Amino acid sequence: MVDSSNTIKHVASPLARQTLQDRQLTRPVAGVKPIPLLPWLHVVKIGGRAIMDRGHQAILPVVEELRALLPEHRLLILTGAGIRARHLYGVGLDLGLPVGSLAPLAASEAGQNGHLLASLLARDGVSYIEHPAIANQLAIHLTAARAVVGSAFPPYHHHEFPTSRIPPHRADTGAFLLADALGAASLTLVEDVDGVYTADPNGPDAAQAELLADVDAHELQRQVGPLPFDRALLEVMANARHLRHVQLINGRVPGRLTAALRGRHVGTLIRTGVGAA
Ligand SMILES: Nc1ncnc2c1ncn2[C@@H]1O[C@H](COP(=O)(O)OP(=O)(O)O)[C@@H](O)[C@H]1O
Ligand SMILES: [Mg+2]
Repeated sequence: MVDSSNTIKHVASPLARQTLQDRQLTRPVAGVKPIPLLPWLHVVKIGGRAIMDRGHQAILPVVEELRALLPEHRLLILTGAGIRARHLYGVGLDLGLPVGSLAPLAASEAGQNGHLLASLLARDGVSYIEHPAIANQLAIHLTAARAVVGSAFPPYHHHEFPTSRIPPHRADTGAFLLADALGAASLTLVEDVDGVYTADPNGPDAAQAELLADVDAHELQRQVGPLPFDRALLEVMANARHLRHVQLINGRVPGRLTAALRGRHVGTLIRTGVGAA
């Protein structure tokens, strides 16, 4: 009988003898920049509340812009959750449900919005695909079609961090995690405001709200008031590997999405620190 226990223990690996907890020891192996998997991909996140909840008046012009962009770009279009998730949080919190129960329910609304959007682009060859297909078969889908639609919500589901009662990792965080992991060319967040302001431009301090044209993610972390995206986005941006910035634009203004995807500065550029001197 062959004794395999010794050979198994001696499988050659640069990390075999190291604890994975010590960054000094893992850096020579793990400190290498990952390869961009889909460097030609442009990721667009469509806001649930800003666009989808507004129905055809807001959705159809965005669909027309996306359709016109298909010959120019290959797109991963991700949808967020809106009013239905908010209602669900209200009912779920009233019932005392934990965050890990609420996260997958809210994520299902982001998926519903994706199905709605994909139906409108179906005649252009666009379909809704689930997370496992995005993870494993995005390249083949985008070889068959110019764009696909998916849910922007990250599938933490019942593993959602219990740092707050409302799921902290929502659609903006999910869109960024995907775009950066894929090494995409860009991520555009489509909202109903011209960019990120120093205060909510539709809130009680609107008179003081100033538009920030270009801002570092770590500077925004210090801004105490509300933001038009989940705060966890800023945390994941601090660890970006590829994306130098995210652009947040007003999708209610015709032409802004097209301009943003052509690399023009038409909203707020939120910088990650990748590539900074
Ligand atoms: N600092 C801010 N800058 C810009 N918009 C803000 C800010 N704080 C709050 N908002 C509000 O966020 C709204 C968008 O809401 P949000 O929940 O992000 O929508 P969505 O579900 O579409 O992402 C904007 O219409 C705006 O009123
Ligand atoms: Mg938003």
